[in-house]
Amino acid sequence: MTTFLIGFMGSGKTTIAQLLATDFVDMDQVIVNRIGMPISTFFEMSGEVAFREIESQVLEELSKSDGVIATGGGVVTSDDNRRILSESEAEIIYLKSDFDTLYQQISDDTTNVRPLFVDKSREELQVLFETRAPLYEAIATQVIKTSGKTPKEIVKEIRR
Ligand code: S3P
Repeated sequence: MTTFLIGFMGSGKTTIAQLLATDFVDMDQVIVNRIGMPISTFFEMSGEVAFREIESQVLEELSKSDGVIATGGGVVTSDDNRRILSESEAEIIYLKSDFDTLYQQISDDTTNVRPLFVDKSREELQVLFETRAPLYEAIATQVIKTSGKTPKEIVKEIRR
């Protein structure tokens, strides 16, 4: 059984995956290992399109494996990726939050500086969020509202 965690940057996908399964897989980490550099450096050197190609390859590979997988926030932007996710028969959990909370969490996360956060204004990031939110909703098999909840409470709700 495969479980994908989806949601915008800062929604806590990695934190929740860690609590759900000690041997979880973080898609961004798989990509970092493959490209041999931080995602932000890869964006600067090769651009977003090249990143999305690798992201799709990694998703395709992981969709055949078992376990809990934390995806990157942009995984839903490609039709192919959404098809892979929907056809995988996996559980797809959307960690849903409001933009203000997400923005705060992205800004506070100094250990993981996202290239899209650096490149975009707050308004541009909000537009990205509003574009993606219906895509997460559309492919989710379970939607968990995370605002105001602790990671432990979120995990409890997922397991219920
Ligand atoms: C991205 C989100 C990031 C990472 C990359 C692009 C996005 O993952 O994959 O920086 O397009 O939203 P997180 O959602 O784990 O921050």
